[in-house]
Amino acid sequence: MFRCHGYAAASPKAPLAPFSFERREPGPNDIQIEILYCGVCHSDLHRARNEWGGTIYPCVPGHEMVGRITAVGSAVTKFKVGDTAGVGVMVDSCQRCENCKDGLQQFCEVGQTETYNSPDKHTGGHTYGGYSSHIVVDETFVLRIPEGMDLAAVAPLLCAGITTYSPLRHWKVGPGQKVGVVGLGGLGHLGVKIAAALGANVVLFTTSLGKSDDAKRLGVKEVVLSTDADAMARHANSFDFILDTVSANHDINGLLQLLRRDGTLTQVGVPVEPQAIHAGTLVGKRRNYAGSTIGGVAETQEMLEFCARHGIVSDIELIAIHQVNDAFERMLRSDVKYRFVIDMATLPAA
Ligand SMILES: NC(=O)c1ccc[n+]([C@@H]2O[C@H](COP(=O)([O-])OP(=O)(O)OC[C@H]3O[C@@H](n4cnc5c(N)ncnc54)[C@H](OP(=O)(O)O)[C@@H]3O)[C@@H](O)[C@H]2O)c1
Ligand SMILES: [Zn+2]
Ligand SMILES: [Zn+2]
Repeated sequence: MFRCHGYAAASPKAPLAPFSFERREPGPNDIQIEILYCGVCHSDLHRARNEWGGTIYPCVPGHEMVGRITAVGSAVTKFKVGDTAGVGVMVDSCQRCENCKDGLQQFCEVGQTETYNSPDKHTGGHTYGGYSSHIVVDETFVLRIPEGMDLAAVAPLLCAGITTYSPLRHWKVGPGQKVGVVGLGGLGHLGVKIAAALGANVVLFTTSLGKSDDAKRLGVKEVVLSTDADAMARHANSFDFILDTVSANHDINGLLQLLRRDGTLTQVGVPVEPQAIHAGTLVGKRRNYAGSTIGGVAETQEMLEFCARHGIVSDIELIAIHQVNDAFERMLRSDVKYRFVIDMATLPAA
């Protein structure tokens, strides 16, 4: 075991604060990474504050990290010391069930090991995430960062990027389609960039009209204020696909009515409360209401290559780690352009 330092929440109401803990020495298949940058995902906030229930404390959040490899196990073949590497939302899975065999480790039947807040089969404790100095991960779950990408701005691709890329690909978004993205935050702004790169005509639904100019720069064709009933009605029955990234309760029925026959609204945002759906809205036009979570390891690598080819990284605001509690508050106010990324060089030594 070796000593790491990071930032943890000690309880649902406690701000994140410096915290030291142990990680395992790298085993034969493991890679040890010094973390350089870690994105701040809204899931980190939901989890640190126990908004979904089930948070294990102390909670070290963070599942969008990029770093430098400082050690590799004897059986590691894909990476060497000094390489840059990425780690996302998962660090392990059973690797034997049907879903794992299909490369869909995010749906592991046994339960994937999430980067934080999962049982840690090596230590007997629970996993700690990327708001920390180092991480040790089986090489199967380590991503290669394509040459030349900005390392801080690539970090959010490891969760926000794959979470939007995977459903856009699964529901075959492509040229000529009318595609809605709901919410221009971390996920939403990458959803816009990726959908536009896939050739779709992207419409943004937002509660923040002040983001309109940015939205156009990111690739949006039209911005709709989702609280303006008339503006919404003008788009009735016209969308092939809508990706909903909203983190809080909101009116989903109003969005479902904008789908054309057989259209799909896919939820990737995970509001805390259950949402009421009118069945009539679905049956009337054979509409689909669906969900999606991150993506498998191979698809995450594919997403990174896709983003490298299309010049896509996250728009970020780089922060020092002591600013993370303020970043959480700003995220709650939808005041983020468009992902906070922690510069881990600012982590105080233990
Ligand atoms: N499924 C997965 O695998 C997965 C992965 C990552 C994250 N998530 C979840 O996805 C959600 C978004 O994460 P994020 O990191 O992108 O969060 P974020 O950066 O905070 O963005 C969320 C956006 O939602 C909009 N919004 C916020 N409150 C709203 C409200 N009351 N009504 C309507 N719109 C509202 C805002 O956009 P506007 O200002 O444009 O309205 C806001 O910027 C979270 O619930 C997170 O846990 C899921
Ligand atoms: Zn996330
Ligand atoms: Zn499995």
